[in-house]
Amino acid sequence: MDKIENIFAKVLKDIKPDDEESRALVAHTNELVERLKKAVPKDVEIVVVGSTAHGTNLRGDSDVDIFLLFGNGSSKDEITRRGMAYAKSIIRKENNERYEIKYAEHPYVRVYLDDYGIKADIVPAMKIHNIDEMVTAVDRSPLHVEFVNSRLTKKQKDDVRLLKYLLKVHHIYGAEIKIKGFSGYLCELLIYSFGSLRALLSAAASSFKVPLYINPLNSKEKATPDVIKKFNSDFIVIDPVDHKRNVAAGVSMESLARFVLIARAFMKRPSIEMFYGHGFPGTRARTLIDNFIERSGLDLYLIRIPLPDKSEDILWPQLKKVADETIDYASKFGFDVYISAEWIEHSEQGFIMFVAPRMHLKSRLAKGPDVLRGNFADSFIESHRKALGIIVKGTGIYALEKNRYSNIEELFRALASGKIIGRRKDLDFRKAELFVNKVPREYAESVFAQLFEKTSI
Ligand code: CTP
Ligand code: MG
Repeated sequence: MDKIENIFAKVLKDIKPDDEESRALVAHTNELVERLKKAVPKDVEIVVVGSTAHGTNLRGDSDVDIFLLFGNGSSKDEITRRGMAYAKSIIRKENNERYEIKYAEHPYVRVYLDDYGIKADIVPAMKIHNIDEMVTAVDRSPLHVEFVNSRLTKKQKDDVRLLKYLLKVHHIYGAEIKIKGFSGYLCELLIYSFGSLRALLSAAASSFKVPLYINPLNSKEKATPDVIKKFNSDFIVIDPVDHKRNVAAGVSMESLARFVLIARAFMKRPSIEMFYGHGFPGTRARTLIDNFIERSGLDLYLIRIPLPDKSEDILWPQLKKVADETIDYASKFGFDVYISAEWIEHSEQGFIMFVAPRMHLKSRLAKGPDVLRGNFADSFIESHRKALGIIVKGTGIYALEKNRYSNIEELFRALASGKIIGRRKDLDFRKAELFVNKVPREYAESVFAQLFEKTSI
C-alpha cells in the first residue's frame, strides 16, 4: 500500500461507524419509522434519506433523515402542518426525548433521543416520480438515495466519508450559511465524478480553476458561457437527478479556495495531520494567545454578550452581521481589522473577536477637490470651517479633521457599551463586556481555537 492509501485506511478506521454503532442506528431509525407508521395515514410514505441511507455517514455524528412523503394534490403549507403534527406526536418525553422546530425552505421537526445521542430530522416532502413534479426543495432527496446507492461503490462511499471528515476538520463541510461549504451530497457527487478521493484531490490540486463546471454524468462536458451565466456561479456541479440545479450553489469562493489549498498541501506532502488538524493542549491556550499578540504586535479585542435562550441558527447570523458592520464602520474612521470571528458558547454567551493593528488616528485628512479643476474648493473650505487645518498639497486640498475615535479601542469600547448599537434583535450591547488582550482563562481555549482557525489553513 502506498503512503496515501495507508493514510486513508488509518483515518477510515477512526471515522467509519463500527458494526455496533451501525446496528444501533438502524434499530433506532426503525423504531422511529414504526412509530410514524402508526401516526400517519396509509397514503403517506415514510422513507429514510440522507447519509445514513447512502452509507456515507460519519462515526458518532449520525443524524438520521426521515422523510414523510405526501401524495400529490397537497399544498406545501398543508404537508408542513400535517407533517410537523405527526412528527411531534411520536415524541416520548418519559424516554428523555425532545424536539426542536428547524427552519429550512419549509419547517421540519428535529427529534433528539438524548439517551442514545441520536438526532433525527423528520421532514415533510412531496412524493414525486419525475423532477418536474417537484414542489419543495427537499423533494429531490429520495431521488438522491436512488442515485447514490445505484452508482457509488462501497469504496467510493468510504472515500466520501474521508472527504467529509477532511472538510469538517478544515471547517468547510456543510452548506449552512455559517460555513458556506460542501454539503454531503456535493461530496458524494464529487467522489463519483472523479472516481476516488485521490483523483479528486489530485485534480483539485492541479487543475481547479474558476469557472469550474462539473457534470457528474458526463465528465468531459464543458460549460458554455450561457450555462455559466444561467447558474450565475463560478462553481457549478450539476445535480444528476435535476439538471437545472447547481449542487455547489452554496459553496463560497473562499471555501473552494481553501479546499484547493488543502488538496495542494496534501498531494505535495501527504500527511495524516491533514485529517486531524494540528491540535493544541487547552492548558496552553493563554500562553499561545499571548505569544501571538506579542509576535504580531496586534491587539485582540473580545466582546462578550449575554444571549437569550434561542437556537444558534437564529443568534449566530446576528453576531456575524454586527461583526461585519463594525468592520465597515471602523474603516470609515481609517481603522483596519485584520481578523474577526464570532461564536456561541453553552448557548448563552455570544462572542465577537477582532484582531487589529494598534493605530492612533486622533485626526485624519479628508480629501477635497482639485483647486484647478472645477469650482468646488471654496464650498469645501466653507463646510470644513471647524477643521483643525486646511492643507494644500499640489493642486489638491485637504481638511485635517478630528477623528471621532482616537484609536480602535475607543471604537470597540463604544460598541461594547451600547453606544454604537444599543439593542438589535436578540443582542443587547448595553450588557456586553470588552476584554482587550487579556482573555479570561475560561474562554482562552475557544479564543485560541478561533484564532488558530482564522490564521491557518
Ligand atoms: N440536501 C441537498 N442539498 C443540501 C443539503 C441537503 O440536496 N444543501 C439533501 C440531500 O438529498 C441530502 C439530504 O438532503 O442527502 C440530507 O441532507 P443532510 O442531512 O444535510 O446531509 P447528509 O448528506 O445526510 O450528510 P450528513 O452526514 O452531514 O448528515
Ligand atoms: Mg443527514
